Amino acid sequence: MKAPIIQPANPARPYGVGLAYRYSFHDEAVKYEDEIDIMEISTEDYIIRERRINSDPNEALLRDALDRWSCVAHGISLSIGSVQDLNEHYMSGSKRFLEEYGIDVFSEHLAFHEIDGKDLTMFLCMPFEEIAVQWVKQNYYAVRRQLGRPFALENVTYFFPAPHSSLDEADFLRRVTEETDCTLLLDITNVFNNANNHNYDPYEFLDRLPLERVSQMHLAGGFQQPDGKWEDSHSHPVMDGVWPLYEEVLKRSPAEIVIVERDSRFNPFEEVLDDVRKARELFYQYRPSVPEGDGPIYLDETPIEVPKTTPLAPEFAGLRSYQRALMGRITDSGFRERYQQNPPEALKEFGLTEEKWVNSLCDIDLNILGRLQDSWDYIDNENQEIAGEYEQNEWAAWADILQSEGKSV
Ligand SMILES: [Fe+2]
Ligand SMILES: [Fe+2]
Repeated sequence: MKAPIIQPANPARPYGVGLAYRYSFHDEAVKYEDEIDIMEISTEDYIIRERRINSDPNEALLRDALDRWSCVAHGISLSIGSVQDLNEHYMSGSKRFLEEYGIDVFSEHLAFHEIDGKDLTMFLCMPFEEIAVQWVKQNYYAVRRQLGRPFALENVTYFFPAPHSSLDEADFLRRVTEETDCTLLLDITNVFNNANNHNYDPYEFLDRLPLERVSQMHLAGGFQQPDGKWEDSHSHPVMDGVWPLYEEVLKRSPAEIVIVERDSRFNPFEEVLDDVRKARELFYQYRPSVPEGDGPIYLDETPIEVPKTTPLAPEFAGLRSYQRALMGRITDSGFRERYQQNPPEALKEFGLTEEKWVNSLCDIDLNILGRLQDSWDYIDNENQEIAGEYEQNEWAAWADILQSEGKSV
């Protein structure tokens, strides 16, 4: 099916280069207000209660940011590729956030990372298969319906492509844009990382993308592991090899929003700002003025009817079982042991019997899988400690209340 005809109607048009907004550098950013066109707000910072309370309890910083800069929103928890029902809490929180603060432009990641409440907090790429395109299409339109607007999907840095996939990443991205009216948030650093980490030419990759659908770009800096693989850490200046790719996409796409992402090492702030300055200089070299028309961000609110299906539909059974079994291999030590003893028997627990998916799962690089398992064990341990601490604090607060009421504890 071809994508529906897009009717652009964008009243407030974010245009230029900015930063992924973080509370910690708010005051610094204000000093350089005129050098930053856009702030990209993390929706999670305002829909996850603990995060908001800890950092911006009255939303005073957010309101100030909205006053100063053109703002767009970026989510991280959707897991659009997971073959399961959408997280309604996340969906309603995102919708409320966008509407309450009048933010039109939204983006999320083309990936899966959460199954049955277990969140890896690391993106896994979708298997590059037509059935995965079809699942993403269903979920994209379900989210679009709820948010009342189209949104952009971002390519992620991935640890491994699912072995024996029938498409590759460029085909997969192109198919998703053919099947939906999404635009692409092309993370240029992720293109650079994946090309280097999985040995392909990033320029040939760009040649095969529908660059006319790129509405936004990300730039970030990471570091190289001892084995030469690039880590997408958002902790360093944008790498030298990323800039020519950025320039190439500036030349060949209509993208009007560029965001520099930095998640740590904010000091000196000038170092972060240097990336914005460089990106901005190139941006205005190719985009000296806002082009006529409505730009590449489509805010058409016309609902598009796409037949709904469910995660339990038989056509998605293979993909669904594959995702669950993969998550089991990463997060469940008991399952890892059973899998080591007898892979086919263990996979039957997840109903994974189809040869194609079994082979794909069994042939994942064991070193990479080991790294993911170690990361998960670490995260899981930390989460348990945080949960324990939270519980202790809750008990302490409860004890204070009882004591203040003169009751014994
Ligand atoms: Fe992102
Ligand atoms: Fe990104």
